[in-house]
Amino acid sequence: MGGLSGLRLTAEVWSDNEQRRNCMSDQQLIEYAKKALEKAYAPYSKFRVGAALLTKTGNIYTGCNVEIASYGATNCAERTAVWKAVSEEGKIDIEKIAIASDDEAYIYPCGICRQVMAEFAQDDMELLCSNKNGDYRTIRFGDMLPNAFRSF
Ligand code: THU
Repeated sequence: MGGLSGLRLTAEVWSDNEQRRNCMSDQQLIEYAKKALEKAYAPYSKFRVGAALLTKTGNIYTGCNVEIASYGATNCAERTAVWKAVSEEGKIDIEKIAIASDDEAYIYPCGICRQVMAEFAQDDMELLCSNKNGDYRTIRFGDMLPNAFRSF
């Protein structure tokens, strides 16, 4: 779409995203993560996980864990969300990521997912690690993975 109406549309999309980026509450992002875990494919562990990330561009991507009979091929919810985001946008910068499970305990990302996050987030990214009641802890990424390896 070209001309003025195209310009207007671009501005509207930009402002929607800008608004989402600034106004998306922690609780809302956790709700997205909770919704995502309903799609978890976890026949082996029966442990369902959901993740929802907000990009600096104001978009939300969700993911669930996907387990494979050869367990090492399993993909965590956080990585599923990152793969989805990168396949849509190319390089992303994550503003915030929420993680949810059915467990009483707060859920924290595994080591592999932390390394993946380091690729697409700054140290000030916020992780919202929730439990099944929707209580959550906010953790700064730099505290979750100090001195992350990012370049060589
Ligand atoms: N899992 C996640 O999806 N995210 C985490 O943060 C921790 C673990 C998944 C992987 C596997 O499907 C199941 O939980 C048990 O490890």
